[in-house]
Amino acid sequence: MLLPSSGWLPQASLQYLHLDWLTTAGIEVAVLRLDQIDPLISGNKWFKLVEHLKAADRAGAEGIISLGGAHSNHLHALAAAGKRLGFKTVGLLRGHPQNTPTVQDLQAFGMQLHWLGYAGYRARHQPGFWIPWLMQYPNVYAVPEGGGGLAGALGCAAIKQQVDAQLASLGWEDFDAWWLACGTGTTLAGLALADNGKRSLYGALAVPDDHGVAPNIESIFAQANDPAANYQLIDASRGAFAKVDEALLTFIEQTGQASGVPLEPLYTGKALLALKQHVEAGGFAVGTRLVFIHTGGLQGRRGFATTP
Ligand SMILES: Cc1ncc(COP(=O)(O)O)c(C=O)c1O
Repeated sequence: MLLPSSGWLPQASLQYLHLDWLTTAGIEVAVLRLDQIDPLISGNKWFKLVEHLKAADRAGAEGIISLGGAHSNHLHALAAAGKRLGFKTVGLLRGHPQNTPTVQDLQAFGMQLHWLGYAGYRARHQPGFWIPWLMQYPNVYAVPEGGGGLAGALGCAAIKQQVDAQLASLGWEDFDAWWLACGTGTTLAGLALADNGKRSLYGALAVPDDHGVAPNIESIFAQANDPAANYQLIDASRGAFAKVDEALLTFIEQTGQASGVPLEPLYTGKALLALKQHVEAGGFAVGTRLVFIHTGGLQGRRGFATTP
């Protein structure tokens, strides 16, 4: 069994976010600290993995094979879960061998690594891509990049339950909208399905607009047979995925000092900065209540020498 029979489900706390620019605008934000759920298996990753692990168990697999880059939060969480729960993990990496802190962890967690180059990695969507890998590793189950797809989304329903269960502790009866970073849109799609149109969702894109996030979200809705969701995607990428600039780094540092909430520059820092810009542009009425999902990823900060 890959999943523990106890059904390990980490709990995140929902905390009021105190920042001047929110107070000035009369907007209230609570942050769900998925970054704190576990020292190694942090953020939205465990939630996106759970249904894949259940499917792997149903298939009688002994481990998981998946893909990602040399800073991948997904591979990091997967490798850590494999080590913790005692299952085999295989990682297919984009590009040529690099010795990033993430890659060192993957090796230390016992993940078997293969570097595919860039062209080899681009082939990951082609039919037949997995065949040679599953011949080489017959007892592993293939999980798509980032733990995506409908299975990845369905695991994120638990994120909504954790928020709903803690609203009263903030003195909130309800809130108006979700705000979160999007890479593939899987987490947003999962929240939308679970929330069933109750609140709007804002996805702050960590990747440029042409990266297929909206089609990916729509395809998850179509697979779930659930078309209606009130969501909006906002370009938060600041030019490119993983592009980091001085204003972003300063914002992350100041936010950490003012609120005690650590952010990283690829997803959560960009997402909160995009929220600030949206708020300052008058995008929300006074009195709006939002939940910001801290999707973790702090391990990836080590790969950025300029990160505060
Ligand atoms: C820290 C962090 N936040 C957000 C996301 C985006 O999640 P999704 O791909 O479900 O949109 C990712 C990527 O998977 C991530 O690593």
